[in-house]
Amino acid sequence: MNNYTNNLLNRKTIRKYSAKPVSDETLNDILIKGCRSSTTGNMQVYSIIVTRDAEKKLELAPSHFNQKMITEAPVVLTFCADFNRFNKWCHARGADPGYDNFLSFFTAAIDALLVAQTVCIAAEDIGLGICYLGTTTYMAHKIIDTLNLPNGVVPVTTVTMGWPDEDPPQVDRLPLEAVIHHETYSDYSISDINIFYSDKEKRNDSMQFMKENNKESLAQVFTDVRYKKEDNVHFSKMLLQVLKDQGFMNQ
Ligand SMILES: Cc1cc2nc3c(=O)[nH]c(=O)nc-3n(C[C@H](O)[C@H](O)[C@H](O)COP(=O)(O)O)c2cc1C
Repeated sequence: MNNYTNNLLNRKTIRKYSAKPVSDETLNDILIKGCRSSTTGNMQVYSIIVTRDAEKKLELAPSHFNQKMITEAPVVLTFCADFNRFNKWCHARGADPGYDNFLSFFTAAIDALLVAQTVCIAAEDIGLGICYLGTTTYMAHKIIDTLNLPNGVVPVTTVTMGWPDEDPPQVDRLPLEAVIHHETYSDYSISDINIFYSDKEKRNDSMQFMKENNKESLAQVFTDVRYKKEDNVHFSKMLLQVLKDQGFMNQ
């Protein structure tokens, strides 16, 4: 097995970074590799905002609920769905772009996420640590202000990056059979669910989560504490408004 494949199997999210800088050359190399990702129609309907400036990171921090990685990581990357550049090209060349709709947002979001993941793989391949921040879609409106994102641009995810200063244990995954279906989808019986989630539920960290949050099941930690319906509804409304404001719901 080559190192690259090994790295994919051994990877883990890193949330604590050393003071060692990430050089411009290193970052550039990673970004070049990232931008080799597949992209819809080769349109490259994404942009990546690189934040290295300490003050800018401080400005971004509240949008990420002050998760410490934002201010502590040497590099913060905000991956955006971006039809602004492509639309401008079309207008400048006598072409009439029809990309002010939800499908186009989704297309651009897919492009942005594919680039993000390839950047992460390239970074981890040389020993850098990364952490995705899901707060980007919760607080897109604020990030748009902080990063001056114009119409046609919506942030979809953020990645913090730096040399690791921790070596946490790998976290679990469901068994492969739980997520793979052959030829057609085979729906889960309750006994499948019991089997597929049993290892996860038996883990010490899961037990700890349940105890700390006074919950009877691990699933309740997700539904009642970590990803609550009221939050999902609230942030969904905000994100839909962002899509309208940024010109993606004009059909
Ligand atoms: C889209 C996305 C959003 C995430 N958001 C956060 C986050 O806001 N804060 C955080 O500490 N980790 C975040 N993570 C990291 C996950 O918690 C982590 O990938 C998961 O627990 C599995 O751990 P592993 O990457 O070490 O295997 C996010 C991951 C993804 C893919």
